[in-house]
Amino acid sequence: MAAVVWIGTSWKMTKTLGESRAFARSLAAAPVPEGVQPFVLPAHTSLAAVRDCLPEDSPVLLGVQNAHWAPEGAATGEISMRMAADAGARLVEMGHSERREQFCETDDSVSRKARAALDAGLVPLVCVGEPAAVRDAGQAEEFVTAQVRAALSRLLAEEVADTIVAYEPVWAIGEAGRPATRAEVSPVTAAIARESERLGGGRGCRALLYGGSVSVDNATVLLEDPHTSGLFVGRAAWEVEGFQALMAIGGAHAARVDI
Ligand code: 13P
Repeated sequence: MAAVVWIGTSWKMTKTLGESRAFARSLAAAPVPEGVQPFVLPAHTSLAAVRDCLPEDSPVLLGVQNAHWAPEGAATGEISMRMAADAGARLVEMGHSERREQFCETDDSVSRKARAALDAGLVPLVCVGEPAAVRDAGQAEEFVTAQVRAALSRLLAEEVADTIVAYEPVWAIGEAGRPATRAEVSPVTAAIARESERLGGGRGCRALLYGGSVSVDNATVLLEDPHTSGLFVGRAAWEVEGFQALMAIGGAHAARVDI
């Protein structure tokens, strides 16, 4: 598979059906820049509607922001991997810090979800990232490396290449977040790349994304990190114009580095 620049957005808990369809129709109306692999993670309620607004051959991958590891059963409020796939998901996000903090997601549940996603033919998108106190203590690389090791602990070595890891430092995410500098990001992405290559028997994860207060102002610099193969964006991509501007930056980067 040719290397590409991944540009993706999680809509988190935003967008009605109408808002989701409007975004998807605008997305379908414009070409995706060469060298860019876009993805969108709508809320569960909008996933099938977004899929139906995109042409069958759309390059935009869809996914869910969470799914349960069990095949089905009594798990009120959850959806299974099979249900996610049925509604149009190809990717399954897991381990986002908002879910770790607010919904008791643990390294163990992340590893179960990664296993279940692969078993359902879906690509796990594993989020890792250190809180501010851990960074202040100089422990960011060790902390994140341990999260990666735990998340991939139920996978075979050859399955590591089927997973995507997103480095999202907790202190950089959301309204209260502070944008990270490339100097802050690079040692951690290098550590993630090292660990995923070790676990994958020499072959690392399929893509290593950076997320947390990404915007058109810092996207180019963040993409220059040699271990980063794409960006995972919240607020700056919630309007389709923002997402398209970031895809254009991804396309320019792809052309520059001749991916
Ligand atoms: P923001 O881009 O809004 O900081 O959110 C990033 C994120 O959490 C993506 O998963």
